[in-house]
Amino acid sequence: MNKPLDQRMTIDGQEVIFAEGETIYAVAQRNARSIPTLCYDDRLEAFGACRLCVVEVEGYRNPVASCTTPASAGMVVTTKNATLDKHRKTLLELVASENPPDADVSPLRGKASQEMTELFTEYGVTGARFEGKKSGTSRPDDDNPFILRDYDRCISCYRCVRVCAEQEGDFAISVMNRGFSTQITTEFSGLLKDSDCTFCGQCVQTCPTGALADKKALRFAEDPAPVKKTRSVCGYCGVGCSVDIMTKGGRIVGIQPAFDGPANEGALCVKGQFAFDFVHHTDRLTTPHVRKEGKLVPASWEEALDVAAEGFLKAKNHDRYATYAIASGRAPSESSYLTQKFIRANNGTHYVDNCSRG
Ligand code: SF4
Ligand code: SF4
Ligand code: FES
Repeated sequence: MNKPLDQRMTIDGQEVIFAEGETIYAVAQRNARSIPTLCYDDRLEAFGACRLCVVEVEGYRNPVASCTTPASAGMVVTTKNATLDKHRKTLLELVASENPPDADVSPLRGKASQEMTELFTEYGVTGARFEGKKSGTSRPDDDNPFILRDYDRCISCYRCVRVCAEQEGDFAISVMNRGFSTQITTEFSGLLKDSDCTFCGQCVQTCPTGALADKKALRFAEDPAPVKKTRSVCGYCGVGCSVDIMTKGGRIVGIQPAFDGPANEGALCVKGQFAFDFVHHTDRLTTPHVRKEGKLVPASWEEALDVAAEGFLKAKNHDRYATYAIASGRAPSESSYLTQKFIRANNGTHYVDNCSRG
């Protein structure tokens, strides 16, 4: 049960209420304060790595990370001033020493892939103020068809590792070494397909730099058409995961999970995440077919519907269990609904199934 909002504190001169156990960041968010973050994903346990979310608290000697510091009654917090902006900009300049701000990070890489670039723009980080060693080595040898492991862009926020453990419960990836030798890796530094990875894509979608990227969507990166996102529900199973379908000029180029989807909170399975090529596949039937002399041949809708109606009527001459309908998980939900409606009303049987049954 949610705890009551029965405590008071002050944020940027405004008195606000909060519930025991909330962090300063959560209270500030609810009160429309904009605090920059890089290692934060509100579906995960706060980690406190990037320090971008620092705020000033009256009576505290140094700024504190708002994502890990609990709010307390009477606290007086400042979320934005020139000192904090300077502090955040310096942190971002350190990040930029590994990731050039002018690098082209396609939004097709992943849902959160623009977070770092957007912060560079917001804080006016335009070039590398600091030079030095770089951490993270990309894995171009990983030839899996789904996930690009471009660790040259990694900032060690560990969101990928944490989402894999906390959301997916898979623990397929981890952190190896420390400092400039830090590397996101699988067990024994192998390929993802040889690990416990289920290719759910959650690490890709939470990565704030595009270091982990959607290989299937990136096939369309050169297409100059703008990306359009359409909110929908994945039809593969009965869970009802919310997705944003990305299209360019009417062609599906990728799927991104909806972090605010009530059923999935940003999670998808490998099919919902990556199996969309069938939509535009050249083998896909575009006209009805009927069987003539044992062979399927193209037909008009009128002819095909007549043949189907004849077949259903013939089946009705037997008992009601002579018919069994199977709907496709790749058809829209509305088609599945109509299939069961038709077979129940017309043939009087509950013998109907779908791989979307979940
Ligand atoms: S790969 Fe991405 S999500 Fe993982 S630690 Fe690096 S920057 Fe963070
Ligand atoms: S795709 Fe899913 S299972 Fe595989 S490493 Fe990423 S989060 Fe873990
Ligand atoms: S968001 Fe708080 S430390 Fe990174």
